[in-house]
Amino acid sequence: MTLVVNPGESISMPMLYIITPTYKRQEQIPDLTRLAQTLMHVPSIMWLVIEDAEMLNPQVAALLRRTGIKYLHMLAPMPKDQKMRKVKARGVSNRNKGLQWIRENFVDQNGVIYFADDDNTYDLRLFDEIRSVKRVGMWPVGLLTSYGMSSPVVKNGRVTGFYDGWVANRKFPVDMAGFGVSVSMIIKNPKGNMPYVPGYEEDGFLRNLNVKITEIEPKAENCTKIYVWHTQTKKNKAPAKVNATIHGQDNIWTLYQQII
Ligand SMILES: *[C@@H]1O[C@H](CO)[C@@H](O)[C@H](O)[C@H]1NC(C)=O
Repeated sequence: MTLVVNPGESISMPMLYIITPTYKRQEQIPDLTRLAQTLMHVPSIMWLVIEDAEMLNPQVAALLRRTGIKYLHMLAPMPKDQKMRKVKARGVSNRNKGLQWIRENFVDQNGVIYFADDDNTYDLRLFDEIRSVKRVGMWPVGLLTSYGMSSPVVKNGRVTGFYDGWVANRKFPVDMAGFGVSVSMIIKNPKGNMPYVPGYEEDGFLRNLNVKITEIEPKAENCTKIYVWHTQTKKNKAPAKVNATIHGQDNIWTLYQQII
């Protein structure tokens, strides 16, 4: 792959590999529009948008084309045995597919990987923090659990523990949006993937990368700033069926195709 440099983009800037798992639902296009229009302000990124689906959603493809961002639009359907489980580990097949692609195609050993779900809100300052990660960086995430946030505990510039409303035996009780890892880390740990264990995806991934608590780099001013929130778009009821006899020949029919 050739490294294409957009105008105003510095080649010396470490590349950000942003992995976004997504799946078809009513909220997919609004959520991805918000994320895309945030990422359009961020230089030197490669956006991996990976759908848990059997077919690429053409609406997602059109949205990605309009952004001007360097992106890859791929499929990673959840394996059948996982699909049958009552509580599913959503986004794992997508994220592992992204990691595999980066391992095989990275152009920047100094690059940093970030899992950016489509239902969060991102302050642009977060991306500068991610870019400065050397091995593993962590930062607070807002709007999470009964504590209202999740963050590493930082004393004298070192991570000493975690503040999170759901610790549940996790060594790394952190949210997906609360950390970034270097490309070199995942190259050095070729088996460092995400497990299909609901609730333990982050913890399992960081353990598989052999991360040590002492090497965590606290970002966002020693974790005193919140630059990302787990906003979560409210799930909406399926829309009422449009009557094709009345609207089959007008704009309402066209609109209806876009929201289902
Ligand atoms: C973080 O804390 C350490 C120790 O107090 C300090 O030296 C460092 O400047 C702080 N970093 C930032 C970005 O605030």
